[in-house]
This record gives sequence, C-alpha cells and structure tokens, in this order.
Amino acid sequence: MKVEHLLGNTSYIETPQAIIPVYFLTEKDVIFFDSGTEPSDELMDLLEREDLRVRAVVCTHLHPDHIANNDALVQRYGTEIFAHPMEIPALHTRQAVSYFVAPIQSDEELVIDGAKIRLLPTPGHTTGHLVCITPDGVCCLGDAMMSKSVLDRARMPYMENVDRSIISMEAVRQTDYPYYIAAHKGVANREEFQQLVDDNIQKELDLYDLLRQKIPGPVDLEELTSEFIRASGVRSEKMVVQDYVRLTAKVRIYALVHAGEYTLKKNLVVPV
Ligand SMILES: [Fe+2]
Repeated sequence: MKVEHLLGNTSYIETPQAIIPVYFLTEKDVIFFDSGTEPSDELMDLLEREDLRVRAVVCTHLHPDHIANNDALVQRYGTEIFAHPMEIPALHTRQAVSYFVAPIQSDEELVIDGAKIRLLPTPGHTTGHLVCITPDGVCCLGDAMMSKSVLDRARMPYMENVDRSIISMEAVRQTDYPYYIAAHKGVANREEFQQLVDDNIQKELDLYDLLRQKIPGPVDLEELTSEFIRASGVRSEKMVVQDYVRLTAKVRIYALVHAGEYTLKKNLVVPV
C-alpha cells in the first residue's frame, strides 16, 4: 500500500477493495474522501511511515464499506468526519459508531483549513450521496458510479432510487474534470469517464429489461423479487447482502410501477 500522486495536491491510496482519494492540505496534513472498506492496520502503518495526519474524512456516503477506518482515525488523529446530513440518521440505525459525524451545511462547498471542496449532491445510491471534487479538480465519485471492472462483476448494484441515480449520473456527466475516481475502483480521465457513465446507465436499463421479462402476467411481488434476484445472478449467503439485494430489487420493481408500466393489486404486480 502506498500514496500515489495524481494531480497537484491530490493523491490516492489503493487498498484491496477501494481507492481512497487523498488531498494534501500541507506536507503532512491530509483529507481523505471515504476511509476504506475495512479496518486496515496496513493503512495505519502507511500513515505512520509517511508521517501523515488525517485532518478530516469527507464521506461520499456512510455505507459501512466507505467508513471502515473512521473510528481508528478519530482516535489516532482527532480526525473530523463530515457527511451530508441526510446520511447520518441511517448510519445510526445500521451500526453503533463512537465518533461524531459533522453534517455538511452546504450542498455546494465544504471549506477545510482554507481548502475548498466542491460538492455535487448525487442522490440515488443513497439519499444523501455526495460527489466531492478536490481543489485540483479530481472528482471523487464514491458509489455514484462504479468502475468498468466492478460493473462487469456486479449483478445488481445497490440503489435506493434507480431513476434518481441515473439523473445524478447525467448531472456528473456534465462536469469537466481531468480525473474521476470511482471508490470501487479505478481512476478515469475525461474521455474514459464518458464511457463509464454510459456503462453505468446501461447496466440499470438492462436490469429493467430483465425485470420486465419476469412479469409476463400478474405475479406475486415476493416471488417476483426472488425470481428477479435469481435471474440477475446474485449469489451470496450473507444475510446482510441478501437484505440489501432484496431491498434494491424491490426498488426496481416499484420504479416500474411508479412509471406506469405495472400496477400493484394487493400482493400482485400486474402489467398495465
Ligand atoms: Fe455504497
């Protein structure tokens, strides 16, 4: 594990499952954008070796696989943790954390020790998801989009609201930055990023098509959910994954109902 320079004062640390963008406020004081998928001694050793202090973690959202080192950083450096206010209540229902999360007051900008971090609200994956742009113009995508290699393996990306997520992806597409970092896991330049947006949106449209194929006539909502998950190829024994997948599968069913393609009659999904 090492600190890789990208542009200006912006670098990143590649961990086994994620990329953590790092902005250097000074030679020693850095801001993290998310803190990794799991608690990492290797990450702590790297910080020690490089004599770095993590001044703040700006969280794109508060899913467990983006905040795993927050606790250790707060204890070690008194790191400030920032997130969109809409992310915070859900965090506390999901897991017990022993640190304070400061709600970001503006949807547009967060200033830390004079460094202006631009923010782009990107609801969809979660309600309070933020894309964060370092002062050098490196765009930290969080889970607003996935890299191609992860997308190819993903069976059903987690979304709280697919249509809102697609609108958010289109909004990020309109930006023009030299680099875009997907948390899981890759750095794209401008041209590659345009393709990434297309690929992420296409993934969602393909999932809608797969879902439609599973509703030839009236079908029970719960059975449809299970069949859709099976057809998508999701394979996980983990309860927590199953819960997330079931939730995001239903989100897609309700989206088609909301779009007027189907209605819900008691527990049946019925083509219109
Ligand atoms: Fe996430």
